[in-house]
Parts: sequence; C-alpha cells; structure tokens
Amino acid sequence: MTKPLEGIKIIDFTHVQAGPACTQLLAWFGADVIKVERPGSGDVTRNQLRDIPDADALYFTMLNSNKKSLTLDTKKPEGKEVLEKLIRESDVLVENFGPGALDRMGFSWERLNELNPKMIVASVKGFSDGHHYDDLKVYENVAQCAGGAASTTGFWDGPPTISAAALGDSNTGMHLAIGILTALLGRDKTGKGQKVAVSMQDSVLNLCRVKLRDQQRLERVGYLEEYPQYPHGEFGDVVPRGGNAGGGGQPGWVLKCKGWETDSNAYIYFTIQGHAWEPICKALGKPEWIDDPAYKTAEARQPHIFEIFKTIEAWLANKTKFEAVDILRKFDIPCAPVLTMKELANDPSLRASGTIVEVPHKKRGSYLTVGSPIKFSDMKPEVTASPLLGEHTDEVLAGLGYSKQEIFNLREVKAV
Ligand code: COA
Repeated sequence: MTKPLEGIKIIDFTHVQAGPACTQLLAWFGADVIKVERPGSGDVTRNQLRDIPDADALYFTMLNSNKKSLTLDTKKPEGKEVLEKLIRESDVLVENFGPGALDRMGFSWERLNELNPKMIVASVKGFSDGHHYDDLKVYENVAQCAGGAASTTGFWDGPPTISAAALGDSNTGMHLAIGILTALLGRDKTGKGQKVAVSMQDSVLNLCRVKLRDQQRLERVGYLEEYPQYPHGEFGDVVPRGGNAGGGGQPGWVLKCKGWETDSNAYIYFTIQGHAWEPICKALGKPEWIDDPAYKTAEARQPHIFEIFKTIEAWLANKTKFEAVDILRKFDIPCAPVLTMKELANDPSLRASGTIVEVPHKKRGSYLTVGSPIKFSDMKPEVTASPLLGEHTDEVLAGLGYSKQEIFNLREVKAV
C-alpha cells in the first residue's frame, strides 16, 4: 500500500520527546525519516530509565519507531559536509535543540535556505522567537507552567499541578507536524520551503483556551458557575483550579465505585449533561427528581451539585466501574471508567484498532507502544521498531554516494 508521505525525506535532528513525537508520526505515514544522532551516545532517551541493561530504553523506542538512525558528528567539518549533502536532497529538517544550537553549529535558517531553498525547516523551542524568555531551555513541566495548564489544574486548596499527559512535549510535536504538512502543501503551490516554528508555551496555551475563556468571563461577571467554588465559595481575580469539574457547560466529577477503599482507580467520570437529566434520574431510580424544581434545571442543581454526586455515589457503591458504565451507557449518559495503564495495555479493542501495538525489537524482544491515534480508510499505519544507534549509517551514506573507503575514513575521524 502506498503511504501518502512516501518520497518525503526528513532529517530528524530531534531528541527527547517533543521533536521525536512529530517525526515518528510523519514516519508512520510513509516519510523517510533519518534520525541524526551524535556518535557513541545518540538521543539521551536511549539511556534514560532503562529497564533492560544494554538495550534502548522504552522512552526512546516508543518515540522513534519507523525511523532510520544515522550517527553523525555535525560539529566536525567532515560531519558538516555529510549533513550538507543530506540537506541538499531532503524535504524537511526538524529540530528541537536548545535556543541557538543550530546557529552555533553553522546551520542558521539563512544557511539552510541557501543550501536547499525548497526545504522546510521545522523547530520546537520552549518559547516563541522574540519572547522575553526565548533564551530558556524548556522541558515538559516547565511548559505546562508557562502555558497556563499548571495554574488551572488540580484542587483549589492544593498547589498548581502538572498533568501526566505530555501537553508540552508530544502535544507540541503534533502542532509541529500540522505545520510541516501545511508547509509541504504550500511548497506545492510556491515551490519554496519555509521556516515553521512552534513553541511549547503556545501549544500548551492552545489546549488551555477554555481557561482563557473563563478568565474573561470571570472579569466580566465575577464568578464561574460551573466551578465547584460556585455558589458557596469565593472567587478571586484569576481562574481558579476546579478539581475534577467539567470544563464546558456540563458539571461532572470523578465518583467512587465499588472497591474504591482498596483500589485507587475504582472510579468513573460522570457527566450531568443538561438534556440527559431525565435519563440520569431514571438510571439512578430517582424519577421524582425529574420534575422537582430543586433538580429540574442545571441552575437549580448547581447549589447542591455535590449532594447529587453523593447520591450517585451511593448508587455506585455496589457496582464496579465497568458494571456502572454498562448500565449508564444504556441511558445515553456520557461517562467512562477511570482506566489504568494496565487496563489500557490489555484492552482488546485498543489492540484490535492498532492503538496499542506490540513491536518486535532486535535487542529488547518486543515492547508495547501507542500506535497511530489517527485512523484512515485507505491506510493502516504500521509500526516498526525504533532503530539501533547508527543502524542505518552505512545505508544512508551509500545513498549519498559515499564509497566504502570514504565511509571507513569518516569512521576513522569519528565523524560518524
Ligand atoms: N553532533 C554534534 N553535536 C550535536 C549533535 C550531533 N549530532 N546533536 C546535537 N549536538 C549538540 C548541539 O549542537 C548542542 O551543542 P551546543 O549547546 O554546544 O551548541 C548540544 O548538542 C545540544 O544542546 P541542547 O539541545 O541545548 O541540549 P540540552 O540537553 O542541554 O537541552 C533541552 C535539552 C530539551 C532542554 C533543549 O534541547 C531545549 O530546550 N530544546 C527546545 C525545547 C524542547 O524541545 N524541549 C522539550 C524536549 S522533550
């Protein structure tokens, strides 16, 4: 099956998570992604949190599938020469080094554009160009704090909280992938490459836009009616943390199910969607609530919403999270069990859809990873193992026209 990005050659000058997540996605869809890594060490995640001695860590294998690995010291003149050749015949270069690193290496945007005016140069940085923090190096949690996620996540009586979801890293990588694909379509029209830049702060903020909505509502009316603080608590002048409240117009909460005393994930998320009130009452065996003025409207319910959640918890007390969802789904009530990583890893539906895949690996045996969350009618992205360090060095160099002797010479000077 021909993949849509087949024929697109990408220099993957990325490391850790934000950049690799982007290029992995493009590799799944058929791009020829060549990961350029420092000889001897490679991407730092190859060694981070190893669970098997001498085998690439899962952190690396789960973010670098479907790629080739070329070791190249791009600070040595011989390495720079190889990189220049690669640049001349590539469509995209993706990087997420610290600010200024590519310039210091001698590959500024101007130089890259001179070497290959059709090439798209895509970068992830912590902050956007010209921002007063644009010299900062940034990791995931730093971005979550800078992008508004931390100040709005957690409980009102606790500190700002980091989400386990990689809002700063993988999310930024996904934004960058959209930027690259857009620039490739643009190039079809203009024949020119361009620079695509995404900052981690901006990408986090993009996902927190409803909180910016709330800031404006708060400033106008002084309260936020869907937050647990309403109507009994106080509002200050910034969006507060709302615990597990729903972010839209539907109140919701994480509710205890049978076994919560010993199982820290025996919970469901329950949403009280306005038009689902009648089915909710029927499911809970509370038909008297349907027309009771104290319960009938969202406005009437809000002052005693936690008392309502308590009643639902009483109903849940003899049901597991799965049993509860199986009943509630029949009433069309939006809800889900709180699933653990163990449950997700073994979920037959996720295995069947290719969202959780088992990948054979030369050194590790096999490992589980998350496959493409994007599904196509004409293509099933296939996940192949991440490359060993330098696994494709000879192949890539031969493709660039280097003879065996020349490759040997590059090895002698430790440029590859
Ligand atoms: N050959 C020779 N040198 C290489 C090389 C290669 N193949 N690949 C990288 N390098 C060099 C770079 O030129 C740079 O050298 P310099 O600082 O002397 O100019 C250095 O290795 C890498 O520096 P840097 O990217 O700053 O690494 P770091 O470990 O100090 O910082 C981050 C890591 C992630 C904090 C930083 O890269 C960063 O802020 N990136 C942008 C934001 C980002 O993507 N963060 C999220 C990561 S998930």
